[in-house]
Amino acid sequence: MKTVIAANWKMNLTEKEASDLIVSLSPVIDSVDIETIICPPACYFYLINQLSSTINLGAQNISQFESGAYTGELSAKMVKSIGTSFVILGHSERRHIFSETNEMIQQKIEQCNKYELRPILCVGETLEERKSNQLFDVIKRQLSVINSISGHFYLAYEPVWAIGTGETATPEIAQDVHHFIRNEIKNADIPILYGGSVNASNIEGLLAMPDINGALVGGASLKSSDFSDILKKASSLERITQ
Ligand code: PGA
Repeated sequence: MKTVIAANWKMNLTEKEASDLIVSLSPVIDSVDIETIICPPACYFYLINQLSSTINLGAQNISQFESGAYTGELSAKMVKSIGTSFVILGHSERRHIFSETNEMIQQKIEQCNKYELRPILCVGETLEERKSNQLFDVIKRQLSVINSISGHFYLAYEPVWAIGTGETATPEIAQDVHHFIRNEIKNADIPILYGGSVNASNIEGLLAMPDINGALVGGASLKSSDFSDILKKASSLERITQ
């Protein structure tokens, strides 16, 4: 399976910054043997399409509703119509700050199924849940929505305590959970990405693990040099292991 590196820009960058970043990243993205997915704020989809015809776009979220009077929301049909192929679903920031439930995520998955968008479903435990031995129950519950996905999808294990904190899970800690997820889903073809403070210094160790097939990168995807280094290191690692 090809290594997948997805960039989650979250709510960052002005139009000029987004444009500069894409212009400088494009040649790197085109030269590495990596499936790269850029998930910008939705207001930059059109801009990125204008700047590059080869970049895979992902949305950071979609509405659970089809269309209509839902001020501020973006539908699956809209993001599909602008050329987006992926949607991050169940990110811990959506779950915790915007109170997204598994039921809402399931409705969003139905929209993905309808418009042939590929979900990147995020799962992960808080520090409290890990400390109180609820880790695997939490992951199992979050994974229960995958039965409703009809097409191909990606998973991301993102321990909440590692997101944006600089505290990455060690490759071994991440591998344990990835292995658990792999056994739960009983499918060897679904890429399982790791997310949480991934950077150019830790990417190689993470990707060396047998069940870590890529990364979902937040902070380190916002600077061209950082993200390029991640892509190049991931790409050279893959060539060695092939
Ligand atoms: P981070 O974010 O790399 O900044 O920790 C990852 C994510 O939230 O997807």
